[in-house]
Amino acid sequence: MLVGASGSGKTTLLKLAKGLVPIQRGTFRLLGDPVPNAARARLDHRVAYIPQQLGLVRSRSVLENTLVGALWRLGVVPSFFGWFPGDMMDLAHQRLRSLGIGHKAMERVQSLSGGERQRVAIARALMQEPRVLLADESTSQLDPVTAREILGIMRGIADEGVTLLIATHQVELVGGYADRVVALRAGEKVLEANAADVTEDDMTAALSS
Ligand SMILES: Nc1ncnc2c1ncn2[C@@H]1O[C@H](COP(=O)(O)OP(=O)(O)OP(=O)(O)O)[C@@H](O)[C@H]1O
Ligand SMILES: [Mg+2]
Repeated sequence: MLVGASGSGKTTLLKLAKGLVPIQRGTFRLLGDPVPNAARARLDHRVAYIPQQLGLVRSRSVLENTLVGALWRLGVVPSFFGWFPGDMMDLAHQRLRSLGIGHKAMERVQSLSGGERQRVAIARALMQEPRVLLADESTSQLDPVTAREILGIMRGIADEGVTLLIATHQVELVGGYADRVVALRAGEKVLEANAADVTEDDMTAALSS
């Protein structure tokens, strides 16, 4: 997990990892490879990114939003028209079911709760078959119970072998979910440790001193 106060650079770091902002100095390595420019990385399905505002199309159904994650597998023409083969549709339904919103597949995203929208964003990300999943403040708009449900889902995804990087300003959510924690202050790394080795007070102190 990546913790830091508002403005510390969490979103900027995730966008760098996804290649959405250019690198001005140094080299950014992802899965061992340097990320040379924005265009290549944006098309890289191995890196899924759930933005702070989720980026779902509210007027479209849960299923359609989920299928967006599979566009990289289609050719130009089918992806332009949104022609998804049956097995891809099945996979999308399966993902939604495993995330507990299979019954809402045909509902528009605008009618969903915040927690349900997070699940759709996760389903869409998983359709990319990512090696890395970057999630920005996925829990900050949610009540504490729903926030922990979403983190539990993410923990499960990490246990299946996907590398997750979750940005949050809520240090109290690190314990129990994260393996490693990195704290940012004013764009600088001020702490990096095994989550089990640091307390909330350690993190708060690092962020504020
Ligand atoms: N394209 C940009 N050019 C210059 N400065 C930027 C740019 N994008 C963000 N910043 C600045 O970089 C700093 C870090 O912003 P960032 O959005 O990464 O913070 P954050 O940790 O995600 O905050 P929050 O918790 O509020 O989401 C802020 O001061 C912001 O104004
Ligand atoms: Mg941010």
